[in-house]
Amino acid sequence: MKKFLFEGSFWFPERLIPSGWIEHAPFAYWLINEHRPRLLVELGTHTGYSYFVFNQALKRLNVEARCFAIDTWGGDEHAGYYGDEVFREVRAYNDKWYWDFSELIRSTFDEAIDRFADGTIDLLHIDGRHFYEDASNDFEKWQPKLSRRGIVLFHDTNVRVNGFGVHRLWDELKGKYPYFDFVHGHGLGIIAVGSEIPEALSELFAASADERLTNEIRGIYSRLGATLSERLELNRLSTIVTELTAQLNIRDRLIESKNNDIATRDDIILGKDKLLEERWDELQKLSTELTLRDELIARKNEDIAARDDLIQAKDKAFEERLVNFTAELAVRDKLILQRDEQITKKEAVIEAKYRKLEGVSDQLTRAESEIVRQYKLLASTAEELSATKAMLKTCGNWLCPHSDLSEAPAVVPKIRRILSSRKGGQD
Ligand SMILES: C[S@@+](CC[C@H](N)C(=O)[O-])C[C@H]1O[C@@H](n2cnc3c(N)ncnc32)[C@H](O)[C@@H]1O
Repeated sequence: MKKFLFEGSFWFPERLIPSGWIEHAPFAYWLINEHRPRLLVELGTHTGYSYFVFNQALKRLNVEARCFAIDTWGGDEHAGYYGDEVFREVRAYNDKWYWDFSELIRSTFDEAIDRFADGTIDLLHIDGRHFYEDASNDFEKWQPKLSRRGIVLFHDTNVRVNGFGVHRLWDELKGKYPYFDFVHGHGLGIIAVGSEIPEALSELFAASADERLTNEIRGIYSRLGATLSERLELNRLSTIVTELTAQLNIRDRLIESKNNDIATRDDIILGKDKLLEERWDELQKLSTELTLRDELIARKNEDIAARDDLIQAKDKAFEERLVNFTAELAVRDKLILQRDEQITKKEAVIEAKYRKLEGVSDQLTRAESEIVRQYKLLASTAEELSATKAMLKTCGNWLCPHSDLSEAPAVVPKIRRILSSRKGGQD
């Protein structure tokens, strides 16, 4: 088994990219090392995985070879159709690493065929469209180009879906040429068309007859191939992890900034909590005060209610009194009216009496005047009398010097009469 392996079987492709061919690189390294083709042609390159695996091996193993990759770089029904960027990327890679021995031919396989002389190609890799007719046509047309050392590789020999027909061609070719085929990685078949095949390859073809050895070779290369799929998956996951890590870093920074925000907000909230606590205390105090005031108000309300009752009672009493008073007033008004009438009547009586009185008064006035006149007359009579008295006294004294005049008043009326008679009866 050792002869079917070499250190290169454990290499990793420098350009490990997604491809249906991915798991065949370990065998391709061994094949190139053993076969050492001078002219290698690939029909169907797409993103260039298999082609650059061959190139990597040729370069690393210092095989002096010329390589050609032929493809329209437009895609097909099985590979899918794609844009120009695929070719640009493949060309850039080829120009960078393998420009000195590798060439890309952008054309159909048929168009490119005349660029190759018959009997020149040592290794032909057929990996174009996978219908039976395509694969048959490619093999038939390119077979004459194969050298005496010529071998042909067919990919997808183990795919039996979507119209893939390479397996049918492979079944035909297996009976005609020395062969070996792998069943992993969609199947890869190798036939020897030329007659001068390196010994190691001949031994490989011979191993086809040995089921145990075949399984052993298949098992080892399948396991080695799986390592590449796993590595590719690992790379994919690593890229995802890198992207996620970058996103995580961004998120970490975001979280940090948000944490800072939260811390700031916490401070604000803490401040607000404190304020809230203070306000709560104030509220409690106000609430207590409010309760007290409520109680006060309740008491006042009770007072007011009591007063209202009182006022109501007073109002009622007042109303009753008012009614009574109004009634009384009406009675009094009536009484007053009657009195007024009485007064009017009495006033008329008084007026009449007054007039009568006035008459009396006039009479009185006149009587007074008369009295005054009489009085004056009396006064003058009294003076006259006094003079007479004095004269009489003088006369008396003169007639009877010691007589008592205390009885003189009794004499006065007599004298007055005498005087009156003298004055002509004015008394
Ligand atoms: C399965 S892909 C090749 C995959 C490639 N070997 C790898 O390692 O991934 C098939 C390619 O063959 C090309 N192709 C199919 N038929 C063709 C034809 N008649 N002439 C030129 N290119 C063709 C398609 O454009 C496509 O890129």
